[in-house]
Amino acid sequence: MAKEHFLELNNLYKYFDDVKAVDNISISIEAGELVSFIGPSGCGKTTLLRTIGGFHKQDSGEIILDGERIDNLSPEKRSTGMVFQNYALFPHMTVYENVAYGLKQKKIKRDRHEHIMTALEQVELGEHADRKPSELSGGQQQRVAIARCLVLKPKVLLLDEPLSNLDANLRLVLREEIRKIKDKLNLTVIFVTHDQEEAISISDRIAVLNGGSIQQLDKPDVIYNYPNNKFVSTFVGHANFLTGKIVMAEGRRCFDAGILRFPVDDSVSDTENEEFTVLIRPEQIKINEESSIKGTLTNAVYNGNFTRYFIQVGEQELMVDEFNPRDAINYQKGDHIGVELPSAPHTIHYTEF
Ligand SMILES: Nc1ncnc2c1ncn2[C@@H]1O[C@H](COP(=O)(O)OP(=O)(O)OP(=O)(O)O)[C@@H](O)[C@H]1O
Ligand SMILES: [Mg+2]
Repeated sequence: MAKEHFLELNNLYKYFDDVKAVDNISISIEAGELVSFIGPSGCGKTTLLRTIGGFHKQDSGEIILDGERIDNLSPEKRSTGMVFQNYALFPHMTVYENVAYGLKQKKIKRDRHEHIMTALEQVELGEHADRKPSELSGGQQQRVAIARCLVLKPKVLLLDEPLSNLDANLRLVLREEIRKIKDKLNLTVIFVTHDQEEAISISDRIAVLNGGSIQQLDKPDVIYNYPNNKFVSTFVGHANFLTGKIVMAEGRRCFDAGILRFPVDDSVSDTENEEFTVLIRPEQIKINEESSIKGTLTNAVYNGNFTRYFIQVGEQELMVDEFNPRDAINYQKGDHIGVELPSAPHTIHYTEF
């Protein structure tokens, strides 16, 4: 018998009239995993999440959670907990009453107070139980929304852009907190965001969506270094693309992209003298005065810890990121600079997007 996964989506479809918001999605998520859904606005992240939580009914396909088929159940019966983007707290109730609400609905009386206080402690809000949501910061309100789910002990926590209303610093702090709560309670979490950096830092795996379908589901470093297609490579991180073919030059295998030619190793495919495209991340290119590949600096953007240089080499403009130790050399516009390219760039297949 095939191994059972904790959460399985099998051939899910969801249409809104003629918009295919979820287009044949099949994925498996393991217990204790945090998986992010990322993708551009309108790609179907919220619709997929709401379909898992039971707030939308799929047009076809199935959802299996912990061995039980749940796609025909109402949201309350699914053992999923959803945190909405706007938190949807009850403004007239205290923090305590907000967290108690779900237990009351489910008529869970036994140890109710202990359950509520445990959930509030888990998000470090035990001392604010008597406050109203309006007396809390945005980050604290967000944690009340999480506590309101945790108190019901969901098998999966569904978070729809939970940090998008918060300022940049608080986002950083809270994403660490969500990760810690998840690790401590061994929660299974689906986290929707359109912030790729947030997804990379918080996730065990990332699903990149476009047009209602999953382009790639992998660990963050695989998504970043070995994207399946051009869409994934540009949605996550910055990219240089070079198109050319393998040639032999001075007895070495080289990738020849016209003006640019550099040695590559055997991992770079050689499809019968045909042209193909490689992806090179900006930090994989080194500034090296010894290199025979020379270019002209057209722009330099200082970012504190690193500088992004734009270097024109023939027809090709390369983006190059260099770390900035204090007192590092600062190149100026117009400088002639040597660049060294990686010997094992990742091959991108244009046909796949
Ligand atoms: N209730 C609805 N009725 C009709 N169309 C809808 C509805 N909800 C979503 N859609 C459409 O389905 C598609 C997917 O929308 P969805 O809200 O899932 O995108 P999203 O990835 O969450 O986007 P965002 O990043 O902007 O939140 C869009 O084309 C959207 O217009
Ligand atoms: Mg959305």
